[in-house]
Amino acid sequence: MNGTLHLAQVLNQILTQNKLIGLPTETVYGLAAPINRPDLIEKIFSVKERPFFDPLIIHVSSIEMAKQQVQHWPEVATRLANAFWPGPLSIILEKNDLISNRITSGLKTVAIRCPNHPLALNIISELNIPLAAPSANKFGKTSPTCAKHVSDVFGPQDVHVFDGGLCQVGIESTIVKIEENKLIIMRQGMILQHDLEKCVGKNKNIKVEHYKAENIEAPGQIKHHYMPSIPVIKVPNDDLDSWTLKIKNQTGITGTGVLLKLGDNPNLAARDLYSNLRLLAATSAHYIAWSDSHLDLMQLHSHWHAILDRLNRASSFCIEK
Ligand code: TXA
Ligand code: MG
Repeated sequence: MNGTLHLAQVLNQILTQNKLIGLPTETVYGLAAPINRPDLIEKIFSVKERPFFDPLIIHVSSIEMAKQQVQHWPEVATRLANAFWPGPLSIILEKNDLISNRITSGLKTVAIRCPNHPLALNIISELNIPLAAPSANKFGKTSPTCAKHVSDVFGPQDVHVFDGGLCQVGIESTIVKIEENKLIIMRQGMILQHDLEKCVGKNKNIKVEHYKAENIEAPGQIKHHYMPSIPVIKVPNDDLDSWTLKIKNQTGITGTGVLLKLGDNPNLAARDLYSNLRLLAATSAHYIAWSDSHLDLMQLHSHWHAILDRLNRASSFCIEK
């Protein structure tokens, strides 16, 4: 009771002072504001230096709250939410008028997710309104997986960060768009095509497919995201010394490189990915190198897929053999 009262008071103070909420989730930390505060929604874009054409995800604490934000909540959404919420799945549906065009960058659809983190769920329940939140990093940069990553970048005058510990998933949610009779994976995450197929599998009319990037709908799909403060370079294998000359010739980058070791457990690799990129970027190295040569074809189509997606987008160069 005291805890609840205290949380309510703290939230009230943060919002009265026109600050954003640094929100812990199981994927990455978010930079959050209630959907009914247009001034704070503007502030998300300005402090993050995010282009206005990049829509925000809204975070709910229940399926009921999600239903209230959309024109129509289809049966397949219930099935997905029952299977994966709270958890790292964002579901795109047609928005209703409670969600401003500012939040969705003019799109008629909105991405909704229910985060699997007790503190995030308490905060949303307490406010009793969805929170719009992108990842709490400057646009294009590495996402935050602990409270300090957020407070290192955003000052206390702009953002009150709730410390919810280390993010256990470590990379952003899978984003899926529900269309008439298919699910389209717009962003890969730790919930896989296979998991989604198993969930909607009872209804054979629904196909699950990956988005084809001919026409980019949202900037999260473009390259050059998740970038640490020094260049990331993909190399053919982990023997970095044997590639330094080629790196110099092909990229013009000289100096020392440091190898990002991915290990053999995708869950741990995802959890630690962004903090390892930050740690390596803070060494005296001039670039970070990585390779997927130790993974076989089977692994490349498993949970590694989303990790490699992030690393490929973070990479400025790819060295050929
Ligand atoms: O795990 C996550 O999803 C984290 C945590 C904080 O919840 N959030 C996150 O938000 O990664 P953000 O803003 O960094 O990435 C959201 C992505 C963007 O690439 C955006 O373009 C896309 O979702 N997006 C949002 N609404 C969309 C929509 N209606 N249609 C297509 N893409 C959308
Ligand atoms: Mg982001």
